[in-house]
This record gives sequence, structure tokens and C-alpha cells, in this order.
Amino acid sequence: MPEARTSLPPTASRLIERFEKRQGRIGIVGLGYVGLPLAVTLAESGCTVIGIDQDSAKVEAIQRGESYIEDVPASQIAALVSAERLSASTSFETLAQADGVSICVPTPLRKTGDPDLSFIVSAVRAIAPHLHPEMVVILESTSYPGTTRELVLPELEKQGCRVGTDLFLAFSPERVDPGRKDWTTANMPKVVGGITPACTEVAAAMYAQAMSAVVRVSSAEVAEMAKLLENTFRAVNIAMVNEMALMCERLGIDVWEVIEAAATKPFGFMKFTPGPGLGGHCIPIDPLYLSWKLKSVKYTARFIELASEINTSMPRHVVRRVQDLLNDAGKPLREARILIVGVAYKPNVADMRESPALDIIGLLQEKGAAVEYYDPYVPALAGDGIELRSVSDLNKAAGLADCVVIVTDHRALDYAALAKAARLIFDARNVMAASGITDPKIVRL
Ligand SMILES: NC(=O)c1ccc[n+]([C@@H]2O[C@H](COP(=O)([O-])OP(=O)(O)OC[C@H]3O[C@@H](n4cnc5c(N)ncnc54)[C@H](O)[C@@H]3O)[C@@H](O)[C@H]2O)c1
Repeated sequence: MPEARTSLPPTASRLIERFEKRQGRIGIVGLGYVGLPLAVTLAESGCTVIGIDQDSAKVEAIQRGESYIEDVPASQIAALVSAERLSASTSFETLAQADGVSICVPTPLRKTGDPDLSFIVSAVRAIAPHLHPEMVVILESTSYPGTTRELVLPELEKQGCRVGTDLFLAFSPERVDPGRKDWTTANMPKVVGGITPACTEVAAAMYAQAMSAVVRVSSAEVAEMAKLLENTFRAVNIAMVNEMALMCERLGIDVWEVIEAAATKPFGFMKFTPGPGLGGHCIPIDPLYLSWKLKSVKYTARFIELASEINTSMPRHVVRRVQDLLNDAGKPLREARILIVGVAYKPNVADMRESPALDIIGLLQEKGAAVEYYDPYVPALAGDGIELRSVSDLNKAAGLADCVVIVTDHRALDYAALAKAARLIFDARNVMAASGITDPKIVRL
């Protein structure tokens, strides 16, 4: 038995032993981009996983052995379901037999820009009646530091649970990057911070059965803050390079060449590239959870606020650049036909959450342009006042457009054919030059 284990309560030691022998039963609440890969990774390691989601369509898909997340093959789900290592349900009652439960529900912002923790609260309240001794509860949803202790812990204690003695509670941030093949749920180091040291050990043991590296930290707050440091680092650096693009434009300097030159420095520089704005569930949102929390202690998170301001201004900048290009060609934007290429928030996925393409399309439409789009991953757009279907023939639509705007650089596209077909291209991702295509009709951000 490892030395640290001797000071653990017997309940913790028994739980850890069950995880180590792959005899644990684990519930995953929220089977989305984070929860489904986690459920499959844990089930692959040999333990029994019960997935719970309020969305019956997702539950039924898993029961049928189907996948709705690009990174998780249906064949893998089908094999785990038929081996009875993975099941799915809309009911929380199955948690009565669980040794561990991981909460992977959304943490969006409200319309006011404040954190919306209602999904965490409703999940914890649904779990609460099924809590029992010798169980670990782990929050994975990204939130501000203090959420696990201030929001989740009281709900567990209301059930009479003694956290750290008979029930264990920890925070462990998820770092999945949908679409990525080299770093997956299984090989990504997993940070774990418990409410007590025993909570950390039990939670670490649950993940260690399936993940190659578990990083223990001294508290849930450190784990919560580590996730926000990672995402704030991205948001601030993207904003900095976006501002660099704005400054270079005013000075008549090519920002892309500047970045490539700076990136030849072998140390002390990390390459970030400008773009049409931030997207996804994490980078545009998570830092705002932190700045919101800081307001409660009367501190303004200046880097976060400034980064958010610059990043959210980028769609408007793209539209202004397109308007200027059309002006130079003697075409008013209100009479122009614009083709947006790529609308997902990042390449090679269908994820539209917070995609800057939506803002760009909305702004172009507001100015009277006729907007079409092409995205092989996103057949239709509905909502936010936008109702569009992807054009089926990219090059034909490009030939008819006054300007093609590349917003997302999906790998599968034939950029050489697109360059040939289009009359004018605004490339917000520098994908044309990166593909070795240069032409005076291609203008980059
Ligand atoms: N998507 C990512 O790349 C990513 C990466 C790292 C961290 N995160 C964080 O992980 C969390 C989950 O994100 P996601 O992308 O998986 O979200 P998602 O929207 O893809 O999935 C969440 C799932 O939770 C379900 N759900 C919501 N409330 C529920 C409830 N009360 N009971 C049962 N099921 C419920 C929803 O039906 C949905 O299927 C968020 O906090 C997010 O910030 C996401």
C-alpha cells in the first residue's frame, strides 16, 4: 500500500481499491463533448459506466450503439454497450449503485454576461437523493474558483453526508479539444483537487484507472483556477495577436510575415495567429467566469476584460475590411453577394457554439449584403435571426460572389480550385498562403 494511503479513512481506501481493481461503477452526468469521451475512456479501461443525460435523444443513440460526437466512433460505443460496460439513461436512480459520479454539464453565460450555473445546480440536486457512503462526486464543468466548495458541497451536506469521511468531493477540469487526435481524454494529464486530501486521493484513483497521468493539487480551488489560467492564457494571447494585426494594418506591415519571423526565436515566444474572432464553449466564456468572480471581491480583471473587448471586435473588423475591398472594386456592400467559407468555430468540426461566423453573417446581412455560406460540416444554420443552408457547389457559388470570405479553414477544401473560381477573396485565416496560393485577388486579415 502506498505511504499516503495509510492516513486515509477506511471508506476512502476501500473506494480506491475498487477503482484499482476496475470494479468501480461510475456515473457520468452530461453526455456531451466532454462527458461522452470521458464515459467511453473509463469504460475502455474496464470499469462499468452509466451515462446520464436529460436529452433522451442522446441516451437512445448510445443505447443503439450510435455516436453523435465526431471523436467517438459508433463502433466503440456499440462494442462497450454490448459488453455491458457502458449504458445510458435519463434517470439518476442508477447512481444508487455508483462508486463515483462525474458532472459534465454546460456552464454558459446568461444574456447579461454573468455565469449560468443552473445546469450544475440542477445536476447536483438530481444526484443528491442517490448519494451514499463510499462514493466520490467530481465536478468537471468549468467554473469560477470556489464553485465546488461554495455551491456543490452545501448540497451534499444537506443530505447529511460527511465530505472527506464517508463521501468525497473534488474538482477536475476537462481539457478535451474536440477534433484533436494527438491529445485525447486518455492521454491528457488530469488535474485533480479535492475538498480534503482524502477527496483528492479518491478522485485521482478514479481517473488513474483510465488516464495516463493524474496531477494532484492541494485544493479544489487550485484545480478550478488552473483551468481558468489555461483558458485566459489563450484568450489574452489571441487578443494580443489580434491587436497586433490591427496595428500592422494601420502601419502597412504584413502581420503574418511578422509572426513567422518572430516564431523563429527558439525560446521565449509562442506562436498565436490572428483570426475573425473567438468561438467555442471555452475560450470566449471561461475567462468571464473568473472576471465575474473577481467583481465580488472588488477587483477588475483587466487583461480578461481587454482581451474580451478586442476579440469580440474582430467580426466587425472583418466586415469593415470586406466593405473596404468592395468599395475599392466599386461595389457597395448593400448590393454585394458574399460567400462565407467555413462557419464552424474551428476547422474540421461541426461545432457552431459562439462561432464568429454568426456575427459576421449577421453584420453583413444588417448592411444589406446577400449572404450565402459553404461548410461541409454544417448543412444548415438556424437561429440568431439567420436561416441559411450551405450551398452545395462551393466553386460555382464562389464564381457568383462579389467576395468570398474565408472564416474557417477546414482541411478538406480544395483551396486552389476556390482561388481559381473566386473574383475576390478575404482570407481571415491565411489559409491560402499557407497552402502555397498567392494572387493579388486574395487579401488576408
Ligand atoms: N467542449 C469542450 O471542448 C470543453 C472542453 C473543456 C471543458 N469543457 C467544459 O465542460 C462542460 C461541459 O461541456 P460540453 O462541451 O460537454 O457541453 P455539451 O453541451 O456538449 O454537453 C452537456 C450535456 O449535459 C446535458 N445536461 C445538461 N444539464 C443536465 C442535467 N441537469 N442532467 C443531465 N444532463 C444534463 C446536456 O443535455 C448535454 O448533453 C462545460 O463546463 C464546458 O465549459 C468543454
